[in-house]
Amino acid sequence: MTDFNASLPYNELPDLPPSIEQIESTQILKRCINARVALAELKQAAELIPNSAVLVNALPLLEARASSEIENIVTTTDKLFEFADIAEDKADAATKEALRYRTALYEGTKMVRRGMLSTDMAIQICSTVKGIELDIRAESGTTLKSRMTGEVIYTPPVGQQLLIEKLDNWALFMHEATDIDPLVRMAVQHYQFEAIHPFVDGNGRTGRILNILFLLQHGLLDSPILYLSRYIIQNKAAYYRLLKTVTHEQDWAPWIFFILDGVEETCTWTTDKIKSIRELMDHTAEFVHGQLPKTYSRELVEVLFKQPYCRIGNLVDAGIAKRQTASVYLKQLCDIGVLHEVKSGRETLFVHPKYIELLTGEENVWVYYAGVETDTIDEATEPV
Ligand SMILES: Nc1ncnc2c1ncn2[C@@H]1O[C@H](COP(=O)(O)OP(=O)(O)O)[C@@H](O)[C@H]1O
Ligand SMILES: [Mg+2]
Repeated sequence: MTDFNASLPYNELPDLPPSIEQIESTQILKRCINARVALAELKQAAELIPNSAVLVNALPLLEARASSEIENIVTTTDKLFEFADIAEDKADAATKEALRYRTALYEGTKMVRRGMLSTDMAIQICSTVKGIELDIRAESGTTLKSRMTGEVIYTPPVGQQLLIEKLDNWALFMHEATDIDPLVRMAVQHYQFEAIHPFVDGNGRTGRILNILFLLQHGLLDSPILYLSRYIIQNKAAYYRLLKTVTHEQDWAPWIFFILDGVEETCTWTTDKIKSIRELMDHTAEFVHGQLPKTYSRELVEVLFKQPYCRIGNLVDAGIAKRQTASVYLKQLCDIGVLHEVKSGRETLFVHPKYIELLTGEENVWVYYAGVETDTIDEATEPV
């Protein structure tokens, strides 16, 4: 389809599935195996973190930041952690929007545990992301334009009834095309969802949440900890180009390779990150135990990893101490350099800098606290 007119609504968008030769070549299936192995390793690494809230609080925020940034909604991971807990309404607009993405990912996780992915779920997810009640687009006029040149890149199908039919076909494909590898199905459904573009805005973010939910639905992931948008934002030009290639040339293979590589690369990155988090947790426990033997408990250290911006109330809620004692504990943790006191409006927060640095950094390096004996360190950081 070389004479594709990007300015005309693509009402001829073909229904799924594409022909099987297009989407399940031997090479594609080989890459599926690699991605599946990486996913299995990620699942395993996550199981070794003693408190699952540690990862489920942190990694979706990284995902939310990157996925929002793909759409030019720019905030920092630091701000997201600062406002993640109770002060969401005090955050700036971009931070709020990224936090809503995180909320939508959590809500979606609950929804797929109860039932199958559906058009209604997509509507709910997009409504949460956008912070308003939405419905499938009823009017024409939605186009995708290049931010640089203003040129129209793509005009999605028009007509609410047509969009509903296309979405029915999309949902059916996700549930019933079980002879196709689930990772291939994830790639195909993501293209299709973006091509249908059912909403006036928020389609990219909703589609990227749906990808993670798809993996959860098919048991390839236990919790929403895959940070796939990291790969997409790093390869944004290819992401856009390959979506276009499917539309213009019905050429699926490069798109599917792209997504499979993304899953594999992101799994490996996330697995490494989780291992480092675990090592830092062990080392921190060792250090706090040595410096503050009367204050130390494993639960206390876990709170510092569950809430990298910690409040007195977090310790109280975790049943570690009453307010006054909890406040003393947090000050002691500041004295030994594990936490750092900051003001956020009228509130006092206790930041955990080493953990924030590890989460936000590309590299998985962190510096040991001074004063822990070397043999203790070796023991604490020994890979298992
Ligand atoms: N050529 C294309 N065809 C279909 N979808 C595309 C194309 N190029 C980009 N997209 C998708 O459209 C999304 C942007 O749509 P939009 O509704 O503005 O979502 P959001 O508000 O979440 O950014 C991109 O993130 C991408 O997923
Ligand atoms: Mg947008």
